[in-house]
Amino acid sequence: MPKYSLNVNGVKRTVDVDGDTPLLWVLRDNLQLTGTKYSCGVGLCSTCVVHIDGYAERSCSVYVKDAAGKSILTIEGLAENPDHPIFKAWIDQEVSQCGYCQPGQIMTLAALMNESPKPTEQQIEDTMSGVLCRCGTYPRIKKAIDKLLSGEVK
Ligand code: FES
Ligand code: FES
Repeated sequence: MPKYSLNVNGVKRTVDVDGDTPLLWVLRDNLQLTGTKYSCGVGLCSTCVVHIDGYAERSCSVYVKDAAGKSILTIEGLAENPDHPIFKAWIDQEVSQCGYCQPGQIMTLAALMNESPKPTEQQIEDTMSGVLCRCGTYPRIKKAIDKLLSGEVK
């Protein structure tokens, strides 16, 4: 089996898996980073979003061979700063219900805000509408983002 070297949350990790293994499986099963969730498994829901070289990517749809050597950030890496403004806004608005989709919601928003610290309503809509929530937390997500952008939560 080939070995792949991954940079995950700033730490070099080596995994011994088939190159066509989805990154999501490697994160969850080989590296025990279970914060990234599996839902549709076919690139449709964004529950599994992580950052690869700073961009939001659906980890169920990225082969580990294509992620090798790139910088991967998971929700665990983002949570190394528990004072991250997105976490504060989420807690302020009590966004989570079951919580399952929330790592994908948060990682998707974090990537957008890295690129555009003050995104327009349209950018937010275009980006966040791809992240599905079966619990229907969309109104609270919207309020949390509004608070974040208004500077009420820092
Ligand atoms: S689990 Fe990856 S997009 Fe749905
Ligand atoms: S909070 Fe339950 S799926 Fe989104």
